[in-house]
Amino acid sequence: MKIITKISESREEINIFRCVGKRIGFVPTMGYLHEGHLSLVKKCREENDIVVVSIFVNPTQFGAGEDFERYPKDMKNDTDMLQKAGVDFLFAPSAEEMYPTGSSTTISVSGVSDGLCGSSRPGHFDGVALVVTKLLNIIMPNKAYFGMKDYQQLQVIKRFVTDLNMNTKIIGMPIVREADGLAMSSRNVYLNSEERKSALCLSRSFALVHEAIEGGETEVSEVKHIVESFIKDHPHTRIDYAQFVDPETLKPVKDLSRDFLLALAVYVGKTRLIDNNLFKVM
Ligand code: PAJ
Repeated sequence: MKIITKISESREEINIFRCVGKRIGFVPTMGYLHEGHLSLVKKCREENDIVVVSIFVNPTQFGAGEDFERYPKDMKNDTDMLQKAGVDFLFAPSAEEMYPTGSSTTISVSGVSDGLCGSSRPGHFDGVALVVTKLLNIIMPNKAYFGMKDYQQLQVIKRFVTDLNMNTKIIGMPIVREADGLAMSSRNVYLNSEERKSALCLSRSFALVHEAIEGGETEVSEVKHIVESFIKDHPHTRIDYAQFVDPETLKPVKDLSRDFLLALAVYVGKTRLIDNNLFKVM
């Protein structure tokens, strides 16, 4: 695996393969890798000739008071994991390389980025859209892989890639979970042992929703109440949002008689965790 830190070098290296018709696959990350990230890399390895992974903790997607400065890092372990996973290129630029003095373009996606994390983290998706656009322009992959763990992020990316006629196919991949159901996340490392137990309330609430739906319940307010009381019963939790939304538009649904997504953002201690589940209703 070759590690590249400069944009010009990554263009030169990857171009060589593009010119001879190799399929380029790309997995953008912020590092501190886990099995969730690796599931994207594995799929990317299966479907492409050349696999590029990026590690860049993108400052523009963090708000004031968020965890940008203390975002976990372990470059040595990440490099080992990617090497073992058969990655060809690791692109790990500095903040100066990605955002030289004078950068002043913003990318803002309306609609899908308005609610959920878009409301709780103003500017977050502008930062994601900007960095992913830059990364896709630098790597120019045939396919890029993203997790459904960040379901809204995936919808935002699909939207601007379509709107801006970018020539990359966006692939969404299922959420990878710990054995007990907790969605894998680089931020899980912030949880102490009590918080780690409480964190299970996110994934466990999906089973309650299943039960309610199976029992014929279609009222959003009823099921929302079940979920919120369940989460609140767990120590150290504070709900940011628990929303039942249309899987395409991400707008709140009026009832639960059609497919919907339950999207959760819950503070456990100081750590904000997100999770979601798509419910298929017959
Ligand atoms: P990061 O949180 O490092 O995640 C990188 C990719 O891994 C994202 O597509 C995310 O959805 C996916 N991922 C994370 N946890 C996962 C899990 N448990 N199962 C499946 N996939 C999972 O998301 C970002 O970085 C950044 O916003 C980025 C897209 C790199 C832009 O800066």
